Amino acid sequence: MSQFIIAPSILSADFARLGEETLNVLKAGADWVHFDVMDNHYVPNLTIGPLVLEALRNHGITAPIDVHLMVKPVDRIIGDFVKAGASIITFHPEATEHVDRSLALIKESGCQAGLVLNPATPVHWLEHVMDKLDVVLLMSVNPGFGGQKFIPQTLEKIKQVRQLIDQSGRDIRLEVDGGVKVSNIAEIARAGADTFVAGSAIFNTDDYQHTITEMRQMIQQ
Ligand code: DX5
Ligand code: ZN
Repeated sequence: MSQFIIAPSILSADFARLGEETLNVLKAGADWVHFDVMDNHYVPNLTIGPLVLEALRNHGITAPIDVHLMVKPVDRIIGDFVKAGASIITFHPEATEHVDRSLALIKESGCQAGLVLNPATPVHWLEHVMDKLDVVLLMSVNPGFGGQKFIPQTLEKIKQVRQLIDQSGRDIRLEVDGGVKVSNIAEIARAGADTFVAGSAIFNTDDYQHTITEMRQMIQQ
């Protein structure tokens, strides 16, 4: 696996052809599939759940599936995603009563676990759970919709979290989600991110391979 992970968000794919779109984006060079789960409660939008994830697995998708839960509550849906074939499960700490327990539930199931911090959520949420984290997902837009503009204040936060991860000495990926494009991915990588979610910037182009290659070139310079 390369040092940098590109994780297209299938939220911006054509849902009527989801299996084909997911295979296409992987063939085009994507590393992970970013799977956005919205519940019309924690966020004002409604998307896809475990049945759709299972259908993707049955369609021959073997790449890691990165499940971003924007749901409240968190715990009772974890098992369904594990059974459906999730690889990584992340959730927002404000959406659960007991952050440590939710992380433990994910880890015990054999999946990788991560916390997601919204633009205004402070970094101190990470402090006492670093030992349980495989991923920190920093939102660079407010969650709920694809196609929003990257919030530039996130760059400082990425630097801060990069320091915390390095100090911990643990192998934790620093993932950034929202408004990531060919034009800003290099700056996001320089701030310390190593995993990049991009929805509209990939799926709204005609040639996924060209876009993913361009993204990689920007961060490998
Ligand atoms: C937003 C989602 C993102 C979104 C990213 O709530 O978590 O993953 O799909 O879309 P773009 O890349 O278009 O900002
Ligand atoms: Zn997401």
